[in-house]
Amino acid sequence: PQITYVDHDGHETRADVPVGENVMRGALYNGVEGIVGECGGGLSCATCHCYVDQDWMEKVGGPSSDAEAELLESAAAEVRPTSRLSCQIEMTDALDGLVVHLPEHQF
Ligand code: FES
Repeated sequence: PQITYVDHDGHETRADVPVGENVMRGALYNGVEGIVGECGGGLSCATCHCYVDQDWMEKVGGPSSDAEAELLESAAAEVRPTSRLSCQIEMTDALDGLVVHLPEHQF
C-alpha cells in the first residue's frame, strides 16, 4: 500500500510501505524528511508527529489515544485534532492511498 507524505511546504512524496510496517518507518525508509522517529517507535518521543489527512482520520482509527495525546504535549509543532504519532499507525491494505501531512519541526 502507498502513503503520500506531504511536507510543510506542500512537497509530496509517495512511498510504498509494506503491510505491518508503520507510517513512521515508511517515512524513514524512503528518505522522507520531516519525520524523525527518535525512539524507534517506542511511544516515548514525539518526533514522529504527523497530521493525518482529514479524509483518513476514521480509517487510521480516529484521533490519538490517551498515551499518544500525552506525548504529543511535548511535540515541537502545534497539536491539532488530526495529530497522531506516526509510529502508532500500522499499515494495512485498507490504508492504501493514505495521506499524512508533516509538521514544520519535530524538535
Ligand atoms: Fe517515538 Fe513514535 S517514534 S513516539
